[in-house]
Amino acid sequence: MSEVKKIVILFSGSGTNLESIITKLHKKAQRSSEKCHSIEVAAAICNVPTALGIEKATRLHVPTVVLDHKLFDSREAFDTKLVELINSYEPDLVVMAGFMRILTPVFTSNVKAINLHPSLLPKFKGAKAIERSFESDDTQGGVSVHFVTEELDAGELILQESFEKSADETLESFEAKIKEIEHEILPNAIKKLLCS
Ligand code: GRF
Repeated sequence: MSEVKKIVILFSGSGTNLESIITKLHKKAQRSSEKCHSIEVAAAICNVPTALGIEKATRLHVPTVVLDHKLFDSREAFDTKLVELINSYEPDLVVMAGFMRILTPVFTSNVKAINLHPSLLPKFKGAKAIERSFESDDTQGGVSVHFVTEELDAGELILQESFEKSADETLESFEAKIKEIEHEILPNAIKKLLCS
């Protein structure tokens, strides 16, 4: 019997990862040997009214909601409304794809969520991970997908992929390699959690 798993995506910016998830997974049949046969992006929620990703989600026919964090008096008040909104879609999983918010326990203790981070965690947690990873002496860069917990970028790893820095690497080429990996690894992590 076919089963549909629902996800809600949270984003704040250009939404290239949001687009890759929708394009690769939304209402696409999964392999019949896997447990779930279909994944539905029930909603995309954005906290920045001017984010370029809003147009992408709308164009791809995914219900899109803007919840502007600036209209709330505290992080807790925003997270309370966000959790309420997420729960209204009854998702099996929440996916943070470039959601630039520090989350409070109101969110982390009520929502099962995963996050994409552009470094080989536990290295380079937090902001400017790409720049710090590029400027470091490390010979490799990478991308991680992990569960969201109260501690920033510290939850259990789901998938991780690395690549070698080339001799003539620039910040631009380094970032392009990261983006290419991100667009594969996040949909793969979602399938791993929901369909195996
Ligand atoms: C990604 O690099 C992700 O690792 C970070 O935010 C960025 C979002 O990019 N958390 P996009 O909006 O999906 O293009």
